[in-house]
Amino acid sequence: MTNIPPPPQIEFTNVTKTYGTVTAVKDISFSVGRGEFVTILGPSGSGKTTTLMLLSGFETATSGDIRLAGQSITSVPSWRRDQGIVFQNYALFPHLTVRRNLEFPLEMRGIAAAERRRRVDRILERVHLSGYEDRVPRQLSGGQQQRVALARALVADPPVLLLDEPLGALDRNLREQMQGEIKTLHREFGMTTICVTHDQEEALTLSDRIVVMRGGRIEQIDTPEQLYDRPASRFVANFLGEANILSGLDVPALPEGPVPVGSVAMIRPERVRILPCDAAPAPDAGRRQRVAGTVAGVVFAGPIRKYEVRSDSATLSVREHVSSEQPVFAAGDTVALEWLRSDLRVVAE
Ligand SMILES: Nc1ncnc2c1ncn2[C@@H]1O[C@H](COP(=O)(O)OP(=O)(O)OP(=O)(O)O)[C@@H](O)[C@H]1O
Ligand SMILES: [Mg+2]
Repeated sequence: MTNIPPPPQIEFTNVTKTYGTVTAVKDISFSVGRGEFVTILGPSGSGKTTTLMLLSGFETATSGDIRLAGQSITSVPSWRRDQGIVFQNYALFPHLTVRRNLEFPLEMRGIAAAERRRRVDRILERVHLSGYEDRVPRQLSGGQQQRVALARALVADPPVLLLDEPLGALDRNLREQMQGEIKTLHREFGMTTICVTHDQEEALTLSDRIVVMRGGRIEQIDTPEQLYDRPASRFVANFLGEANILSGLDVPALPEGPVPVGSVAMIRPERVRILPCDAAPAPDAGRRQRVAGTVAGVVFAGPIRKYEVRSDSATLSVREHVSSEQPVFAAGDTVALEWLRSDLRVVAE
Protein backbone atom coordinates (compact mmCIF):
# COMPACT_ATOMS: atom_id res chain seq x y z
CA MET A 1 0.00 0.00 0.00
CA THR A 2 1.38 3.40 -0.86
CA ASN A 3 1.15 6.17 1.65
CA ILE A 4 0.37 9.47 -0.03
CA PRO A 5 1.47 12.29 2.28
CA PRO A 6 -1.18 14.94 2.94
CA PRO A 7 -0.73 18.13 0.90
CA PRO A 8 0.94 21.02 2.72
CA GLN A 9 -1.54 23.30 4.44
CA ILE A 10 -0.22 26.32 2.54
CA GLU A 11 1.64 26.27 -0.76
CA PHE A 12 2.99 29.24 -2.75
CA THR A 13 4.21 28.44 -6.26
CA ASN A 14 6.04 31.14 -8.25
CA VAL A 15 3.90 33.90 -6.81
CA THR A 16 4.48 37.48 -7.99
CA LYS A 17 2.58 40.61 -6.96
CA THR A 18 3.06 43.95 -8.66
CA TYR A 19 1.47 47.30 -7.90
CA GLY A 20 1.90 49.38 -11.04
CA THR A 21 5.66 49.58 -11.49
CA VAL A 22 6.46 48.26 -7.98
CA THR A 23 7.08 44.53 -7.63
CA ALA A 24 6.24 43.84 -3.99
CA VAL A 25 6.74 40.06 -4.19
CA LYS A 26 8.89 38.39 -6.86
CA ASP A 27 8.41 34.77 -7.83
CA ILE A 28 8.26 33.24 -4.36
CA SER A 29 7.69 29.55 -3.68
CA PHE A 30 7.40 27.91 -0.27
CA SER A 31 5.10 25.61 1.61
CA VAL A 32 3.94 25.30 5.20
CA GLY A 33 2.93 22.01 6.81
CA ARG A 34 -0.20 21.49 8.90
CA GLY A 35 0.37 22.82 12.41
CA GLU A 36 3.68 24.42 11.56
CA PHE A 37 4.68 27.83 12.96
CA VAL A 38 6.47 29.77 10.24
CA THR A 39 7.81 33.29 10.61
CA ILE A 40 8.40 35.68 7.74
CA LEU A 41 11.34 37.88 8.63
CA GLY A 42 12.79 40.74 6.63
CA PRO A 43 13.49 44.48 6.57
CA SER A 44 10.82 47.10 5.98
CA GLY A 45 9.41 46.94 2.46
CA SER A 46 10.68 43.42 1.74
CA GLY A 47 7.21 42.06 0.92
CA LYS A 48 6.14 40.46 4.20
CA THR A 49 2.70 42.05 4.54
CA THR A 50 2.03 41.58 0.84
CA THR A 51 2.70 37.84 1.19
CA LEU A 52 0.23 37.66 4.07
CA MET A 53 -2.39 39.73 2.20
CA LEU A 54 -2.14 37.37 -0.77
CA LEU A 55 -2.73 34.43 1.50
CA SER A 56 -5.66 36.07 3.23
CA GLY A 57 -7.26 37.02 -0.07
CA PHE A 58 -7.23 40.76 0.57
CA GLU A 59 -4.88 41.01 -2.41
CA THR A 60 -4.74 38.90 -5.57
CA ALA A 61 -1.50 37.57 -7.02
CA THR A 62 -0.40 38.96 -10.39
CA SER A 63 0.88 35.52 -11.32
CA GLY A 64 1.53 32.17 -9.67
CA ASP A 65 -0.61 29.88 -7.57
CA ILE A 66 -1.48 29.73 -3.87
CA ARG A 67 -3.04 26.59 -2.41
CA LEU A 68 -4.71 25.98 0.92
CA ALA A 69 -4.93 22.29 1.86
CA GLY A 70 -4.33 21.40 -1.79
CA GLN A 71 -7.03 23.75 -3.16
CA SER A 72 -6.22 26.81 -5.22
CA ILE A 73 -7.46 29.81 -3.24
CA THR A 74 -8.01 32.10 -6.17
CA SER A 75 -11.51 30.70 -6.26
CA VAL A 76 -12.22 30.95 -2.51
CA PRO A 77 -13.34 34.36 -1.18
CA SER A 78 -11.41 35.56 1.85
CA TRP A 79 -14.38 35.29 4.23
CA ARG A 80 -14.61 31.57 3.47
CA ARG A 81 -10.94 30.82 4.08
CA ASP A 82 -11.34 30.14 7.80
CA GLN A 83 -8.31 32.13 8.86
CA GLY A 84 -7.74 34.23 11.93
CA ILE A 85 -5.87 37.42 11.06
CA VAL A 86 -4.08 40.07 13.08
CA PHE A 87 -3.30 43.03 10.84
CA GLN A 88 -0.27 45.23 11.25
CA ASN A 89 -2.56 48.12 12.30
CA TYR A 90 -4.95 45.92 14.41
CA ALA A 91 -8.01 46.94 12.31
CA LEU A 92 -10.45 46.71 15.22
CA PHE A 93 -13.94 48.08 14.67
CA PRO A 94 -13.59 51.49 16.33
CA HIS A 95 -17.25 51.94 17.27
CA LEU A 96 -17.72 48.45 18.72
CA THR A 97 -16.88 47.37 22.26
CA VAL A 98 -14.20 44.78 22.89
CA ARG A 99 -16.90 42.14 23.40
CA ARG A 100 -18.66 43.02 20.13
CA ASN A 101 -15.33 43.06 18.28
CA LEU A 102 -14.61 39.54 19.50
CA GLU A 103 -18.12 38.24 18.87
CA PHE A 104 -18.05 39.35 15.26
CA PRO A 105 -16.10 36.37 13.80
CA LEU A 106 -18.28 34.03 15.86
CA GLU A 107 -21.49 35.60 14.52
CA MET A 108 -20.11 35.20 11.00
CA ARG A 109 -19.85 31.49 11.73
CA GLY A 110 -23.39 31.28 13.10
CA ILE A 111 -22.42 30.49 16.70
CA ALA A 112 -25.20 30.98 19.27
CA ALA A 113 -25.15 33.82 21.81
CA ALA A 114 -24.41 31.78 24.95
CA GLU A 115 -21.50 30.01 23.30
CA ARG A 116 -20.21 33.33 21.94
CA ARG A 117 -20.19 34.80 25.42
CA ARG A 118 -18.36 31.78 26.81
CA ARG A 119 -15.69 31.85 24.10
CA VAL A 120 -15.13 35.58 24.36
CA ASP A 121 -14.71 35.38 28.14
CA ARG A 122 -12.26 32.51 27.77
CA ILE A 123 -10.07 34.20 25.19
CA LEU A 124 -10.09 37.56 27.03
CA GLU A 125 -8.74 35.76 30.04
CA ARG A 126 -5.95 34.28 27.94
CA VAL A 127 -4.81 37.71 26.73
CA HIS A 128 -5.15 39.24 30.21
CA LEU A 129 -8.01 41.57 29.32
CA SER A 130 -10.89 40.30 31.45
CA GLY A 131 -12.86 43.31 32.66
CA TYR A 132 -12.25 45.35 29.47
CA GLU A 133 -15.17 43.92 27.48
CA ASP A 134 -17.28 47.11 27.53
CA ARG A 135 -14.61 49.52 26.33
CA VAL A 136 -14.22 50.66 22.74
CA PRO A 137 -10.76 50.58 21.10
CA ARG A 138 -9.92 54.27 21.61
CA GLN A 139 -10.25 53.71 25.38
CA LEU A 140 -7.42 51.15 25.24
CA SER A 141 -3.66 51.54 24.99
CA GLY A 142 -1.86 50.39 21.83
CA GLY A 143 -0.70 47.21 23.53
CA GLN A 144 -4.21 46.45 24.78
CA GLN A 145 -5.63 46.98 21.29
CA GLN A 146 -3.02 44.61 19.95
CA ARG A 147 -4.11 41.96 22.43
CA VAL A 148 -7.77 42.44 21.48
CA ALA A 149 -6.75 41.96 17.84
CA LEU A 150 -4.95 38.74 18.77
CA ALA A 151 -7.96 37.54 20.76
CA ARG A 152 -10.29 38.29 17.84
CA ALA A 153 -8.10 36.23 15.50
CA LEU A 154 -8.10 33.29 17.92
CA VAL A 155 -11.65 33.32 19.22
CA ALA A 156 -13.08 31.10 16.47
CA ASP A 157 -10.29 28.47 16.75
CA PRO A 158 -9.25 28.88 13.09
CA PRO A 159 -7.08 26.17 11.49
CA VAL A 160 -4.89 28.91 10.00
CA LEU A 161 -3.65 31.95 11.89
CA LEU A 162 -1.98 34.90 10.13
CA LEU A 163 -0.19 37.45 12.28
CA ASP A 164 1.36 40.68 11.00
CA GLU A 165 3.67 42.17 13.65
CA PRO A 166 1.23 41.04 16.35
CA LEU A 167 3.38 42.26 19.23
CA GLY A 168 4.88 45.39 17.67
CA ALA A 169 3.25 47.86 20.06
CA LEU A 170 4.07 46.02 23.27
CA ASP A 171 6.85 46.85 25.70
CA ARG A 172 9.58 44.30 26.21
CA ASN A 173 8.10 42.49 29.22
CA LEU A 174 4.60 42.20 27.81
CA ARG A 175 6.05 41.21 24.47
CA GLU A 176 7.94 38.31 25.98
CA GLN A 177 4.89 37.30 28.00
CA MET A 178 2.70 37.34 24.88
CA GLN A 179 5.31 35.40 22.90
CA GLY A 180 5.06 32.69 25.54
CA GLU A 181 1.25 32.88 25.33
CA ILE A 182 1.26 32.56 21.53
CA LYS A 183 3.56 29.58 21.79
CA THR A 184 1.31 27.91 24.36
CA LEU A 185 -1.81 28.59 22.28
CA HIS A 186 -0.08 27.18 19.24
CA ARG A 187 0.89 24.05 21.12
CA GLU A 188 -2.64 23.61 22.49
CA PHE A 189 -4.67 24.39 19.38
CA GLY A 190 -2.15 23.28 16.75
CA MET A 191 -3.23 25.89 14.18
CA THR A 192 -0.95 26.47 11.21
CA THR A 193 0.56 29.87 11.90
CA ILE A 194 2.33 32.40 9.73
CA CYS A 195 3.73 35.31 11.65
CA VAL A 196 5.35 38.39 10.12
CA THR A 197 7.98 40.18 12.16
CA HIS A 198 11.16 42.16 11.82
CA ASP A 199 12.23 41.18 15.34
CA GLN A 200 14.88 38.51 14.97
CA GLU A 201 14.65 37.30 18.55
CA GLU A 202 10.91 36.81 18.18
CA ALA A 203 11.47 34.83 14.98
CA LEU A 204 14.12 32.64 16.60
CA THR A 205 12.10 31.83 19.71
CA LEU A 206 8.66 31.27 18.15
CA SER A 207 9.20 29.48 14.87
CA ASP A 208 9.56 25.98 13.54
CA ARG A 209 10.97 27.56 10.39
CA ILE A 210 11.85 31.08 9.27
CA VAL A 211 11.43 32.56 5.79
CA VAL A 212 13.89 35.43 5.28
CA MET A 213 12.71 37.95 2.67
CA ARG A 214 14.72 40.61 0.90
CA GLY A 215 13.47 42.94 -1.81
CA GLY A 216 10.38 40.83 -2.52
CA ARG A 217 12.32 37.58 -2.84
CA ILE A 218 12.97 34.71 -0.46
CA GLU A 219 16.61 34.77 0.58
CA GLN A 220 16.58 31.59 2.70
CA ILE A 221 14.14 29.24 4.46
CA ASP A 222 15.26 27.06 7.34
CA THR A 223 14.86 26.17 11.01
CA PRO A 224 15.99 28.90 13.41
CA GLU A 225 19.05 26.92 14.40
CA GLN A 226 20.19 26.11 10.87
CA LEU A 227 19.52 29.65 9.70
CA TYR A 228 21.61 31.10 12.49
CA ASP A 229 24.38 28.54 12.24
CA ARG A 230 24.46 28.16 8.43
CA PRO A 231 23.34 31.45 6.89
CA ALA A 232 23.52 31.28 3.10
CA SER A 233 24.44 34.92 2.61
CA ARG A 234 26.00 37.89 4.28
CA PHE A 235 22.57 39.49 4.35
CA VAL A 236 21.05 36.62 6.37
CA ALA A 237 24.10 36.44 8.65
CA ASN A 238 23.77 40.13 9.48
CA PHE A 239 20.01 40.18 9.68
CA LEU A 240 19.86 37.28 12.12
CA GLY A 241 22.42 38.13 14.76
CA GLU A 242 25.81 39.74 14.48
CA ALA A 243 28.49 38.57 12.07
CA ASN A 244 32.22 39.18 11.71
CA ILE A 245 33.07 39.20 8.03
CA LEU A 246 36.71 38.18 7.58
CA SER A 247 37.22 39.65 4.12
CA GLY A 248 40.52 41.38 4.90
CA LEU A 249 41.97 38.54 6.95
CA ASP A 250 44.12 35.74 5.72
CA VAL A 251 41.68 32.90 6.34
CA PRO A 252 43.15 29.40 6.32
CA ALA A 253 41.54 26.75 4.16
CA LEU A 254 38.22 25.90 5.74
CA PRO A 255 37.13 22.33 6.41
CA GLU A 256 35.13 22.55 3.17
CA GLY A 257 38.00 24.01 1.12
CA PRO A 258 39.12 27.53 0.14
CA VAL A 259 36.63 30.41 0.24
CA PRO A 260 35.13 30.57 -3.27
CA VAL A 261 35.04 33.76 -5.33
CA GLY A 262 31.90 35.75 -4.51
CA SER A 263 31.82 34.42 -0.95
CA VAL A 264 33.34 35.54 2.33
CA ALA A 265 34.27 33.81 5.56
CA MET A 266 32.17 34.72 8.59
CA ILE A 267 32.37 34.01 12.29
CA ARG A 268 29.84 34.80 15.02
CA PRO A 269 31.11 37.07 17.84
CA GLU A 270 30.29 34.45 20.49
CA ARG A 271 32.56 31.93 18.73
CA VAL A 272 35.60 34.17 19.13
CA ARG A 273 37.68 33.96 22.31
CA ILE A 274 39.72 36.85 23.60
CA LEU A 275 42.99 35.96 25.33
CA PRO A 276 46.03 37.72 26.75
CA CYS A 277 48.46 38.27 23.87
CA ASP A 278 50.99 35.85 25.38
CA ALA A 279 48.52 33.04 26.17
CA ALA A 280 50.06 29.61 25.63
CA PRO A 281 48.69 27.82 22.57
CA ALA A 282 45.95 25.26 23.20
CA PRO A 283 46.94 21.58 22.83
CA ASP A 284 44.79 21.44 19.69
CA ALA A 285 46.24 24.65 18.21
CA GLY A 286 46.16 23.06 14.74
CA ARG A 287 42.35 23.25 14.79
CA ARG A 288 42.39 26.92 15.69
CA GLN A 289 43.22 30.25 14.13
CA ARG A 290 44.73 33.04 16.16
CA VAL A 291 45.18 36.71 15.26
CA ALA A 292 46.70 39.58 17.24
CA GLY A 293 44.73 42.72 17.93
CA THR A 294 44.14 45.75 20.11
CA VAL A 295 41.00 46.31 22.15
CA ALA A 296 39.20 49.32 20.70
CA GLY A 297 36.14 49.22 22.93
CA VAL A 298 34.49 47.30 25.77
CA VAL A 299 30.81 47.31 26.69
CA PHE A 300 29.46 45.60 29.78
CA ALA A 301 25.95 44.29 29.04
CA GLY A 302 25.04 42.32 32.19
CA PRO A 303 25.60 38.63 31.47
CA ILE A 304 27.91 39.35 28.55
CA ARG A 305 30.80 41.66 27.78
CA LYS A 306 31.20 42.94 24.22
CA TYR A 307 34.62 43.78 22.86
CA GLU A 308 35.59 45.49 19.64
CA VAL A 309 39.08 44.38 18.67
CA ARG A 310 41.13 45.91 15.88
CA SER A 311 43.47 43.59 14.03
CA ASP A 312 45.63 44.44 11.00
CA SER A 313 42.87 44.18 8.51
CA ALA A 314 39.52 44.15 10.29
CA THR A 315 37.68 45.13 13.43
CA LEU A 316 36.06 42.11 15.04
CA SER A 317 33.29 41.86 17.62
CA VAL A 318 33.66 39.44 20.49
CA ARG A 319 30.95 38.46 22.97
CA GLU A 320 32.02 36.78 26.14
CA HIS A 321 29.94 35.48 29.01
CA VAL A 322 30.94 37.35 32.12
CA SER A 323 32.60 34.90 34.49
CA SER A 324 35.02 35.21 37.38
CA GLU A 325 37.41 32.88 35.54
CA GLN A 326 37.68 35.25 32.58
CA PRO A 327 40.28 38.02 32.51
CA VAL A 328 38.81 41.44 31.72
CA PHE A 329 40.48 43.58 29.07
CA ALA A 330 40.43 47.32 28.64
CA ALA A 331 40.63 49.61 25.60
CA GLY A 332 44.23 49.77 24.38
CA ASP A 333 45.18 46.26 25.61
CA THR A 334 47.03 44.05 23.17
CA VAL A 335 45.21 40.72 22.92
CA ALA A 336 44.93 37.55 20.90
CA LEU A 337 41.69 36.44 19.26
CA GLU A 338 41.16 32.78 18.67
CA TRP A 339 38.52 30.59 17.10
CA LEU A 340 38.00 27.07 15.91
CA ARG A 341 38.38 26.78 12.16
CA SER A 342 35.28 24.58 12.17
CA ASP A 343 33.31 27.59 13.47
CA LEU A 344 34.07 29.62 10.34
CA ARG A 345 31.25 29.80 7.82
CA VAL A 346 31.29 30.62 4.14
CA VAL A 347 28.51 32.97 3.07
CA ALA A 348 27.63 34.53 -0.30
CA GLU A 349 28.68 38.19 -0.59
N1 LIG B 1 -1.04 48.97 -2.29
C1 LIG B 1 0.23 49.22 -2.67
N2 LIG B 1 0.50 50.01 -3.73
C2 LIG B 1 1.78 50.23 -4.13
N3 LIG B 1 2.87 49.70 -3.54
C3 LIG B 1 2.66 48.90 -2.49
C4 LIG B 1 1.35 48.60 -1.98
N4 LIG B 1 1.49 47.78 -0.92
C5 LIG B 1 2.81 47.57 -0.75
N5 LIG B 1 3.52 48.23 -1.70
C6 LIG B 1 4.98 48.24 -1.85
O1 LIG B 1 5.44 46.89 -1.89
C7 LIG B 1 6.62 46.72 -1.16
C8 LIG B 1 6.43 45.67 -0.08
O2 LIG B 1 5.51 46.15 0.88
P1 LIG B 1 5.08 45.32 2.17
O3 LIG B 1 4.00 46.06 2.83
O4 LIG B 1 4.78 43.92 1.76
O5 LIG B 1 6.41 45.36 3.03
P2 LIG B 1 6.73 44.79 4.50
O6 LIG B 1 7.82 43.81 4.35
O7 LIG B 1 5.47 44.34 5.14
O8 LIG B 1 7.30 46.08 5.24
P3 LIG B 1 7.10 46.61 6.78
O9 LIG B 1 8.08 45.85 7.62
O10 LIG B 1 7.48 48.06 6.67
O11 LIG B 1 5.68 46.40 7.18
C9 LIG B 1 6.98 48.10 -0.63
O12 LIG B 1 7.94 48.68 -1.48
C10 LIG B 1 5.68 48.84 -0.66
O13 LIG B 1 5.87 50.23 -0.83
MG1 LIG C 1 4.35 45.05 6.77
